[in-house]
Amino acid sequence: MSKPVVLVAEELSPAGIAVLEADFDVRSVDGTDRPALLAAVAEADALIVRSATKADAEVFRHAHRLRVVARAGVGLDNVDVEAATKSGVMVVNAPTSNIVTAAEHAIALLLATARNVPQGHGALKQGEWKRSKYTGVELQGKTVGVLGLGRIGVLVAQRLAAFDMDVVAFDPYVQAARAAQLGVKLVTLDELLAESDFITVHLPKTPETLGLIGDRELHRVKPSVRIVNAARGGIVDEAALDLALKEGRVAGAGIDVFSTEPCTDSPLFHHDNVVVTPHLGASTHEAQEKAGTQVARSVKLALSGEFVPDA
Ligand code: MLT
Repeated sequence: MSKPVVLVAEELSPAGIAVLEADFDVRSVDGTDRPALLAAVAEADALIVRSATKADAEVFRHAHRLRVVARAGVGLDNVDVEAATKSGVMVVNAPTSNIVTAAEHAIALLLATARNVPQGHGALKQGEWKRSKYTGVELQGKTVGVLGLGRIGVLVAQRLAAFDMDVVAFDPYVQAARAAQLGVKLVTLDELLAESDFITVHLPKTPETLGLIGDRELHRVKPSVRIVNAARGGIVDEAALDLALKEGRVAGAGIDVFSTEPCTDSPLFHHDNVVVTPHLGASTHEAQEKAGTQVARSVKLALSGEFVPDA
């Protein structure tokens, strides 16, 4: 009897692949090559994606045997869960696999924007010794506004508290008592915008959060604010941020995610005070190993008809 087919549409850790290869026919496809994906998914019992592959209704229409779609990461915004459910396809992810990694990347961007690390690095590698141009700011005593006090937001808040920052947060789903336990003051969005020296976004992408930091919000921030988005592209409106930077209403930004990815050109790239990375928030060896093995185990359970616990 032929083995069930697991289609891996994006890079998965060797440890995850090894778990799958023990029982399944593991095939790979470039999930961004739509015709190839649609052809390959027709024969797949399971599909594994990260953030670049759109697992939407069209994919599920082509997937006659598919039983499970697994996202090797935290969010599910590139998987149409409703369409999957209608097609009888289970959706699983690896919700804790990369939370530390994502928190650390947000902090890396925050520090990079505070101290102009990439700018100084770039200049020096061009042979330019520019000390005063890249004078930065300290974190100690500054206020950081954490947008979204979920798993990643909490890790960021705890780590930034160790820099002696005052941490405020906006999250309508978190109780004040829980925030107080973490040493975080819950505030309204407008209070966060007005008080923060740094703002860091840790929200999922939903119709409510898309464009949450837009033109109105960027008129309410301190001109010295530095904004970090290592969550999802579009939560900070890119055109509004570009304008705020041009008009000096924002002092800097660290951006890892873009409304359309891959993104190889953006008005944000032209600001010297913007630090960008290509959606590296989840990209550490440790996180990818965890994400790969967690989804591989979940796929194995799902294909054997067993209960799939939250990872
Ligand atoms: C996540 O949602 O966990 C990440 O965006 C996954 C990824 O980097 O592909």
